[in-house]
Amino acid sequence: DTGLRDAAKHTGVRIGTAVDMAAFNADTTYRDAINREFNSVVAENVMKWGEIEKERGVLNFAAADQLVDSARANGQQVRGHTLLWHNQLPGWLTAGVTSGEIDAAELRQILKRHVFEVAGHFRGRIVAWDVVNEIIDDNAQLRDTIFLRLLGPGYIADMFRWAHQADPKAKLYLNDYNVEGINAKSTAYYDLVKQLKADRVPVHGFGIQGHLGVQYPFPNNVLDNVRRFEKLGLDTAFTEVDVRMPMPPDATKLQAQAYAYSALLQACLLAQRCVSFTVWGFTDKYSWVPGVFNGQGAANLLDENFIPKLAYDAVKTTFTLG
Ligand code: G3I
Repeated sequence: DTGLRDAAKHTGVRIGTAVDMAAFNADTTYRDAINREFNSVVAENVMKWGEIEKERGVLNFAAADQLVDSARANGQQVRGHTLLWHNQLPGWLTAGVTSGEIDAAELRQILKRHVFEVAGHFRGRIVAWDVVNEIIDDNAQLRDTIFLRLLGPGYIADMFRWAHQADPKAKLYLNDYNVEGINAKSTAYYDLVKQLKADRVPVHGFGIQGHLGVQYPFPNNVLDNVRRFEKLGLDTAFTEVDVRMPMPPDATKLQAQAYAYSALLQACLLAQRCVSFTVWGFTDKYSWVPGVFNGQGAANLLDENFIPKLAYDAVKTTFTLG
């Protein structure tokens, strides 16, 4: 039986999934499904700073290298996630900054070293990096993180310039949630990209995470939003799509979920430079959602027994007709 990657092939848009490396190593059904269904992968966690450098100066790339090697063997591109995020930072870094031990000058050196060590390690093997993740908050302001506080907004351009030096072939993305439609937050990104481009900063793509819920209105003007970033000269990608629901699932919720997945995918297929559509996990057996949103779940394309849901059929049909 052919997978999503076969249905997607004629569109040129890559279909991807985030990969939980613990499941990848423990569950052959999970691993076989990844290789049958997807031609792009991204590490759900093992390329994050807090997972790579738990102890200062001690880098652990083992799990990430395993994913990259497996992707190469299975004709899958690899998205890099993520060089900088305010979550999942190493404990020694946040503690050092909080205590004042690490000042602005040292923080900048630590950040630069991190980018060159990680993007350098994977050089030539990553098609696109989420260089900075979720740097604008839900009030459409630059998120108040230790990086903004100590380094000022210039840290953003620094990150892109360092990543480009470390891996000139990787496409460099901004990535965030709640930026699917046209709203204050996605417009703040639009303005930021205009400024970065004016300053000749090497930014190449806008990553739209696509974490939706059937209990919320579907975002407005998704295609217009994608197109306005393309007009700035960027590629776009849907990078973390899942559609959660209040449990238990029912036919209405599952239909709404199928609609939401396929509507986001349609926007990607109708755009000129939407290069990939990545789901944030593909089976309800291993989703991050229940642990974070109490009483919610069933967010993925396959259920906990790897049985396709209406959303899977909708995605496959949308690709086939795409
Ligand atoms: O690595 C530790 C491990 O040492 C420890 O034994 C274990 C038990 O406490 O926790 C492990 O860390 C967990 C990590 O996932 C790796 O499994 C963290 O507790 C847990 O909070 C973390 O959750 C991840 C979450 O990001 C928070 O960083 C989710 O799996 C992951 O799906 C989620 O993904 C994010 C994207 O990166 C960015 N966009 C939003 C998306 C959803 O939050």
